[in-house]
Amino acid sequence: MDENLKTIEFPSARILGIESSCDETAAAVLENGREILSSVVASQVELHAKYGGVFPEVASRQHIQTVYAVIEQALQDAHLSVKDIDAIAVTRGPGLAGSLVVGMNAAKGLALASGVPLIGVNHLESHIYSSWINSHITEEYPEPPKFPILALLVSGGHTELNLMPDHLLYKRLGSTMDDAAGEAFDKVARLLGLPYPGGPSIQKAAKEGNPEAFNFPRAWMEGTWNFSFSGLKTAVLRVVRGIEESGKDLPVNDLAASFQAAVVEVLVGKTLSAAKQFNAAEIVVAGGVSANTALRNAILTQAEIPVHIPILKLCTDNAAMVASAGYFRFINGKRDPLDIDVLPTWPLS
Ligand code: KG4
Ligand code: ZN
Repeated sequence: MDENLKTIEFPSARILGIESSCDETAAAVLENGREILSSVVASQVELHAKYGGVFPEVASRQHIQTVYAVIEQALQDAHLSVKDIDAIAVTRGPGLAGSLVVGMNAAKGLALASGVPLIGVNHLESHIYSSWINSHITEEYPEPPKFPILALLVSGGHTELNLMPDHLLYKRLGSTMDDAAGEAFDKVARLLGLPYPGGPSIQKAAKEGNPEAFNFPRAWMEGTWNFSFSGLKTAVLRVVRGIEESGKDLPVNDLAASFQAAVVEVLVGKTLSAAKQFNAAEIVVAGGVSANTALRNAILTQAEIPVHIPILKLCTDNAAMVASAGYFRFINGKRDPLDIDVLPTWPLS
């Protein structure tokens, strides 16, 4: 453990967060690590929908057009100017290089002009720290998460289990060997002819379907804390081809429900086993896929320890979570120089 790491509870600081790792341009101001003063997200979903996924060059060029307006809006909504800010936290990686560079350069420009310190933040760490923001707090769990924490991170690019003994410390237990959970949702949605982004489309179709209609494989990856979703995706593909060749209509809702059930069962099963094995006090679920209702309901009902899942608008990419992670870096004395590069494949641990 890092002996210099202080876990002082919520001293005063205002952090401006900036996020541009994928297809959302976002900025937010967070007070004392918990209170959202403003949060602006400019989504590019409609731009990319026609490609069926994120088109990297289109994403970075859209970030360029939007980034300063989004930052200005976030400051205006918070009734603050840059000089009222204690630190500028910006996503350094992982993500699309061309997209990361836009947010990073905007943050550097602001830091240089204002003298406010810059803090580069890991996008996966940001997702996890969305659970420290006040608005995720439920009546059931009114306190922030308690260590040691077992964190399940499920996004479009990553699926991993991490053990957090304390703030900013991560031990990766396992991760996906192929597709991320969100990627599997997106690919299977495309197979079923459902619109991008696939996660919400599958969830909507699944509501009308039978999760037991098809018995899709569950890759338990026994003896490891790793995941695998490509076999499941191939199994769905095989069934879809078979039905199409027979000339019958595709039972889209049943296929979506059965696929979703297979993903959720494995994510929840492995998370609960890991939490038990490593004596976690609490569980945090984070990343875009944590917006999935079936996943939320399953883990909340099956877990015997508190489970923290952000409110929906903090599950998918936003900048409040960047400011939250940046806040905990800031109060622990972490700062970055103005010549830092982006890190498109930056691991969390
Ligand atoms: O965290 P995120 O916004 O971006 C990344 O860091 O990747 O996650 C996006 C992913 C996409 O794959 C999207 O399909 C998935 O999260 N997602 C969902 C839901 N909402 C978003 N997956 C399942 N169910 C949802 N409701
Ligand atoms: Zn994300």
